[in-house]
Amino acid sequence: MNENELLKKAEEAMENAYVPYSGFKVGAALLCKGGKVFLGCNVENSSYGASNCAERTAVFKAVSEGYRELEAIAIVSSSGEETFPCGICRQVLSEFSPDMRIILRKKDGSPSVFLLSDIMPCRFSLK
Ligand code: THU
Repeated sequence: MNENELLKKAEEAMENAYVPYSGFKVGAALLCKGGKVFLGCNVENSSYGASNCAERTAVFKAVSEGYRELEAIAIVSSSGEETFPCGICRQVLSEFSPDMRIILRKKDGSPSVFLLSDIMPCRFSLK
């Protein structure tokens, strides 16, 4: 699956975002080793701290289904700007695949690609 295809899936995932508080929709499409893709959206809660980001929704779906080897995640938001994963999501992704690709969508619609290890260089580890 190429970068544009994965971004399109992230766009589909964003349709299910539940954002009555922020109004800020996020969608993620997580590509696992072997080609399986898991979608995620942000799910907010009236107890704000109980909300979950789109990226972690996708990761938790994958891991709970037995997929731990992550190749890439595409992330889009309703802002129309490049939307980077927050620090907590970077930490959660890096638990499984610190060198995975992070695919974002630029304002002009084209993909921009980063390595998680570049945007999360000093992750917390128990080692
Ligand atoms: N959000 C995500 O889904 N992913 C991120 O990486 C950062 C923020 C969500 C959380 C909340 O529902 C909304 O965006 C505004 O912070």
